[in-house]
Amino acid sequence: MDDRVAQIYNKTETFKVTDLASLEEFRKFFISRKGEVAILFDELAKMPVEKRKKYGIVLNKLKNDVEAKFSFLSQKVSYYNKTDCCTIARDLTLPPPSNTLGSLHPICTIVNKIGGFFNHLGFCIVDGPEIENDWYNFGALNFHKDHPARDMQDTFYVCNGLLRTHTTNVQIRIIESQKPPTRAISYGKVFRNEAISARSHCFFHQIEGVYINEEVSLVDLKTILLHFVRYLFGSKVEIRFRPSYFPFTEPSIEVDISCTICNENGCKICKYSGWVELGGAGMIDSQVFINCDVDCEKYSGFAFGIGIERIAMLLYHIDDLRIFTENDVRFLNQFTVNF
Ligand code: PHE
Repeated sequence: MDDRVAQIYNKTETFKVTDLASLEEFRKFFISRKGEVAILFDELAKMPVEKRKKYGIVLNKLKNDVEAKFSFLSQKVSYYNKTDCCTIARDLTLPPPSNTLGSLHPICTIVNKIGGFFNHLGFCIVDGPEIENDWYNFGALNFHKDHPARDMQDTFYVCNGLLRTHTTNVQIRIIESQKPPTRAISYGKVFRNEAISARSHCFFHQIEGVYINEEVSLVDLKTILLHFVRYLFGSKVEIRFRPSYFPFTEPSIEVDISCTICNENGCKICKYSGWVELGGAGMIDSQVFINCDVDCEKYSGFAFGIGIERIAMLLYHIDDLRIFTENDVRFLNQFTVNF
């Protein structure tokens, strides 16, 4: 008898009641004249007197508890009926869902990681404006008025300036305001007038790094970038530099890493080449030093600008840029923490 009473208690806890129909099933199963509790009462009647005394108390308590559970469930079902939520299947007998806290967006997580790496190397983190003037975004960076390189980056113009097309605007602000030796990074949004697709967006995030000192060489740049990508992607990742052109660096390079998604076997992200471009870099052009009043005979430096979404895509195996800004909870929930 004890076991059967315990079983009924268990069943009332796991019985799914989500609407009026299942509430009625609950009533029939436990409370009706032919229900589980009534069956036990029938058996009680056939027991010897001493046992009847003992189990009479147990069964009366069981009956009261089951009825209390029924009335609790009826109230819930009628509440959901009134508030028109009855169409949503809810198991009212389950414990409430655990608290889900929001968490950092994957872009923020990567920014923090990158900040940690460069902090260790003595780089400070500098902020810069998203609405910029022509001088910091183009002029000081050696893009002359009619320089065709301006077409490389389709610019959004706003009434009091432009939306920066790269974080390299902060490079100029850093060089102007800090006496070498200078080690700084800056990150944030950049904007380009591009059609939104899986591979391009009208805004994305970049990280800019600058190092200026006496006798800084391309080897320093290559070494730091190699350690940086190995820190992010592990010791097996390969790095490749291709000659390139930016008006503010000479020589200029593009930085590629071996595709961490397909291990160089070819996939959509690396366009079946086995390599993914991370960004641009180079030795700071002497004209930039002159524009910022820095002695270019004494000092040299490197700079790099890397796309943060690119890093996130490779780290989290994401093949569509749009997902970072769509606020789709199914995506964001994958980065939340449950307590
Ligand atoms: N600003 C360049 C871009 O957005 C990247 C870059 C930064 C290149 C610093 C060289 C040095 O593509």
